[in-house]
Formats: sequence, C-alpha cells, structure tokens
Amino acid sequence: MNQERTLNGKRILVTGGLGCIGSNFIHYILEKYPGIHVTNVDVRQFGFVPHHMHEQTLKKKYRYNYIHGDLCHPRVLTNAFGGDGFDYIVHFAAESHNSRAEKDPERAVHNNISATLALLERARQVMGMKGWRTLQRLLYTSTCEVYGEQELGDAVRPFVEGDPLCPRTKYNITKAAADQMVQVYSRDHGVPTIISRCSNIYGKYQAPEKLISKAARDLFSGERMTLYKASDHLREWTHVLDKCRALELLLTHGALGEVYNIGSGEERSAEQVVKGVLGISSREVDARYGGPEENFIEIVDGRRGHDKRYLLKSSKIQQLGWKPEISFEDGLRETILWYADNRPWWEAFPPVDLERSKAILSPVS
Ligand SMILES: NC(=O)c1ccc[n+]([C@@H]2O[C@H](COP(=O)([O-])OP(=O)(O)OC[C@H]3O[C@@H](n4cnc5c(N)ncnc54)[C@H](O)[C@@H]3O)[C@@H](O)[C@H]2O)c1
Repeated sequence: MNQERTLNGKRILVTGGLGCIGSNFIHYILEKYPGIHVTNVDVRQFGFVPHHMHEQTLKKKYRYNYIHGDLCHPRVLTNAFGGDGFDYIVHFAAESHNSRAEKDPERAVHNNISATLALLERARQVMGMKGWRTLQRLLYTSTCEVYGEQELGDAVRPFVEGDPLCPRTKYNITKAAADQMVQVYSRDHGVPTIISRCSNIYGKYQAPEKLISKAARDLFSGERMTLYKASDHLREWTHVLDKCRALELLLTHGALGEVYNIGSGEERSAEQVVKGVLGISSREVDARYGGPEENFIEIVDGRRGHDKRYLLKSSKIQQLGWKPEISFEDGLRETILWYADNRPWWEAFPPVDLERSKAILSPVS
C-alpha cells in the first residue's frame, strides 16, 4: 500500500455533511489535514438549530464552506460545482431511516435515487472540463441492507461484495437503485467511483431517532425505550469513527469501480443494545427514576420488512489496511456519555415518535 497518498491540499465536496456520518467525517478530515478544503451541500432536513451548531464550530476553525440546498435542484449543484472543481466527492446525502422511507417512499426516492443521479450526471459533465481539477474519486455510501436478509443462527455466510442485491424494504430498494446507478456511471461513463456498503453506524451527531441515539435521548429525557417483539434480530455495529477511517482509506487507496464492505463484526441484538445502554447509565436511571431497568423498556410491534440480520465479510477493505479500532462496549459507553453531555444538541431536534406508530415503524434503521 502506498502510504504517501494524503488528502492534504485537496478540495472535497461532501453531500449530506450535516448528517451523522457526514458530520463526523468532516470533523475528522478537517482536524487531520490542515490543508484540506471542504464544501458541504446539505438540505438540512432535520431543521436549523442542531445543524447551525455544527456550522458555527466549523466556520470558525477551518477551510469549510456550506451550501444549503437540495441536490436535485440544478441551481444548488451549479453553485457547488462553480469553482475550479474538486479532487474528491463523498456522497452521504440520503433519507437514511427505514421507518421514514416506509412512511414517505416518494421522499426516499427523491433523496436517495434522484439526488444520486443528479450528482453523477453533474460529475460526468465536469470530468475533463477545462479549468476543472481532475476528479479522482466519487465515493458513494451504500449499505449492508442492499444484500437482503440472512437467517439468525451460527450457520450464517457473511455477505461478500459480489453477492446479488436483494433489497426488501423501501429504503433498501432506493439505496440499491442508487448503488447500481453509481456502477453504471463508472462502467459506461468512466466516473471514478467507489462504493462502500456499510453496516449499522452509531456515534455522536446522530439524530435521536436511530436505535442507540434514540435510546440515549429516551433515557435522559425520562421516556421509555422501545423494543420490537422480535428484539433478537441482529445488527453489526460499526463506530462512526471507524467508518470515517475506512472512507479516508478508500479515498486514498481504494480501487476505482470497486465495492467495499465495511463492518466491525460486532453483532448485537436490539435487546442487547438497549440493555447495554441501561447498563452504562444504571446509576443515572436509578437516581432519576428509581429502577428497575425493565420498567424503562416498552415492547412494540415490528414494522413490515424488518430484516433479521445483515452480516458482512469485510476482508477486502481489511486487505487495504483497515480494521475497526473501537470495540462495541467502548464505543457505546463513549456515545451515551456524549449524549449525556450534549443535551442542547439533541433537544433541538424536532420530536420524533416513529416507534409508537406501531405497525410500520422501527427504531432500527
Ligand atoms: N446510519 C447508518 O447506520 C448507515 C449505515 C449504512 C449506510 N448509511 C448511509 O450513509 C449515508 C449517511 O448516513 P447518515 O446516518 O449520516 O444519514 P443522516 O440521515 O444522518 O444524514 C443524511 C443527510 O443528508 C441530507 N440530505 C438528504 N437528502 C438530501 C438532498 N436531496 N440534498 C441534500 N442533502 C440531503 C440530510 O439533510 C441529512 O443531513 C446515507 O447515504 C446512508 O444511507 C448509513
């Protein structure tokens, strides 16, 4: 592996950089590479306040530019692509929640398929344009969920990159369509793409509507945590900073046109996760609400298409030199403490109660 390649001095376009992975990625690269320049395009779908907090921190410290808008609006892309170009594009923007996509599939199609197509088309148009930098990589963040589901039990065969896509939910279908669209633009138009298919992410800056971030919010605001009846379904949990390191490696060393699975191997059921959250904060729970833990868990019906499991084989990116550095126990503890310390951040989100709309909604994305 060529250790010389660096992101220093590069110009990077990030889409969806106010979301969980995008925020962490931007913070990570700005801190690591003093010479880097980041432009972030995001429609700010969760409202103004939490995102404004990011903005203020970033603008004060770094070479960072924010463009507010929807990737599907040509004016927004024209604005973003207006200068002398980018060396890298990292595309996070999406409707990332299964339950929201279930509720509003048109929006999922818009944010996941149409926005990706608009970005690919714009990338194709500027490639080789006079005065534009040479675009080296366009990195698309797909998901483990595009492969479909696996059975519970020890006989599981982890998904490999060459497996057929077999998406089963509205979110997964839109992500799989975009994933395939990226491959078409690589194959037919020479856009220099790489796809990462990642397992469930957790960490700071996650809107309080996914399993762990919502459990933290419920805990610290005195709400009961929700669990599906089928709470034994497994997810592979990767800490967002391990994901950021993987994406950095793919930008500098990933092979063009390739797909890379990114998973920690750390599978936990929703029940184990929620009990882990309660375990970390049991003293806090007891002090505030008088225990026992079981009183703080509410069992709700599952949503349609709640897949049992998605376990990835991640040896391809491991061969490039990546491995997860943060154990689930350490990462969960650090994340819950971050939510405890950053109450104004998650309190500023509009209240969401997707889980209690029983039949179709889920806290696990
Ligand atoms: N969170 C996970 O567990 C996970 C796992 C695997 C893959 N992914 C993928 O990684 C990416 C980032 O996930 P996340 O968890 O950070 O999501 P997120 O929901 O936290 O953030 C997505 C961001 O995209 C922005 N956005 C949505 N549509 C847009 C549009 N049309 N134009 C401009 N901005 C738009 C939103 O405002 C939001 O800030 C997504 O593509 C998601 O599908 C996420």
